[in-house]
Amino acid sequence: MLRAEEIRKSFPVPGRSSAVEVLNGISLTISAGVTAIVGPSGSGKSTLLYCLAGLERPTSGRAVLLGHDLTSISARRLALMYREQIGFVFQSYNLIPSLTAWENVALPQRLGGKRVDKDLVNEALTQVDLLGHAHDRPGTLSGGEQQRVAIARALANQPDILFADEPTGALDSQSALRVNGYMRTVADRGGAVLFVTHDIPAACTADQVVVIRDGGLLVTLSSPEPVDILDALAAPYSPTTTQ
Ligand SMILES: Nc1ncnc2c1ncn2[C@@H]1O[C@H](COP(=O)(O)OP(=O)(O)OP(=O)(O)O)[C@@H](O)[C@H]1O
Ligand SMILES: [Mg+2]
Repeated sequence: MLRAEEIRKSFPVPGRSSAVEVLNGISLTISAGVTAIVGPSGSGKSTLLYCLAGLERPTSGRAVLLGHDLTSISARRLALMYREQIGFVFQSYNLIPSLTAWENVALPQRLGGKRVDKDLVNEALTQVDLLGHAHDRPGTLSGGEQQRVAIARALANQPDILFADEPTGALDSQSALRVNGYMRTVADRGGAVLFVTHDIPAACTADQVVVIRDGGLLVTLSSPEPVDILDALAAPYSPTTTQ
């Protein structure tokens, strides 16, 4: 569903002639199922997710998402894919403050020009245990509630691929478990979920775990135990591009 080849990303540093390299040549393949990305803070997880989802352009290398090469895709085609096939949960939620929780969840369908399927919206809010807050605006919700609205918004549209940047970062372990189960419904329908997390037990619910450090792919683990991930994170740094 997604293939990345030698993704590099550098950002210019104000006042310096050389840029800082944040991703140093990451190659990976994401098939249907659930994949977690773990790595220390600042290791490049969000940047990688953005590059893989077409929201950030790599400095070099390429990603092919659902059959489309993101280096040459038009903005229009990408927008269309976001309406119909891709869901994205941002680390900072990105809810629309003037819309209620219900309207936020219905937004992708409205933008897609579809008739809003009220059952799907209600079901998504029920799945994240927020139907009782359907008419509240984001500003009156807690951080964890806002995060769950963002998850419901991405999932109500039944995407083929879901990208989620620390989707349970603001949640208690019980709610996190429930959200992880809900995200897995994308994979149950034959799609792919790619989520970033700091939560090792949550990562272990995934089918594969991609471990990155200092902008490089360390290793890809298949259905690991927590100790496997901790060992990989603690191992001496020697980036690989194994799959
Ligand atoms: N637009 C940008 N301009 C300059 N540097 C950036 C930019 N975006 C990210 N970086 C740098 O790239 C590095 C990786 O950032 P990124 O947000 O991808 O990390 P992360 O692994 O998601 O961290 P966290 O776990 O804290 O969310 C950081 O050092 C950050 O300062
Ligand atoms: Mg991040």
